[in-house]
Amino acid sequence: MKAANCASCHGNHDVRPASDPASTINPKNLEKTCGACHPGAGKGFASVKFHQAVSATGARGAWFVRLFYMGFIAVLVVGFVLHIGAEMYAGQRAGRSSAEQKTP
Ligand code: HEC
Ligand code: HEC
Repeated sequence: MKAANCASCHGNHDVRPASDPASTINPKNLEKTCGACHPGAGKGFASVKFHQAVSATGARGAWFVRLFYMGFIAVLVVGFVLHIGAEMYAGQRAGRSSAEQKTP
């Protein structure tokens, strides 16, 4: 069994738009196109969405997850910087006060 490439689903010398009834990717022909590698592929199987863009109108679930992580990572980076800054500041203050105590 070989993984599908463009030609597996679109054909080679006879690539047609999905709207063309003679196209390998016309909804009516998907059962046969997919069935070449997935024996017994039925109607539901061939109704899988293809070439979905990760966007608000495309693959929404994936888009939301991406959006969440973009924000989450930004908050995390800012949090790290603030934390390191606070620690450095506290260290500096502690160092200064112990130096003050030593001077008579
Ligand atoms: C597993 C099967 C499969 C593979 C592999 C595949 N496609 Fe498709 N492609 C489809 C189907 C089914 C459609 C029509 C349905 C859709 O657009 O969601 C489509 C639609 C398209 C369209 C829009 C055509 C139209 O008339 O709407 C383009 C362009 C396209 N594919 C290019 C490619 C390219 C380039 C590759 C390889 C990188 C590729 N496809 C690989 C199944 C496949
Ligand atoms: C050239 C052969 C070929 C064609 C044509 C093909 N596929 Fe596949 N497909 C594969 C292979 C190989 C795998 C990976 C199987 C695995 O990992 O067990 C796969 C995996 C899949 C999976 C994931 C199944 C899983 O268990 O994770 C789906 C869904 C799928 N194909 C749908 C389609 C649809 C719908 C079409 C028709 C538009 C299509 N395929 C056409 C070879 C093909």
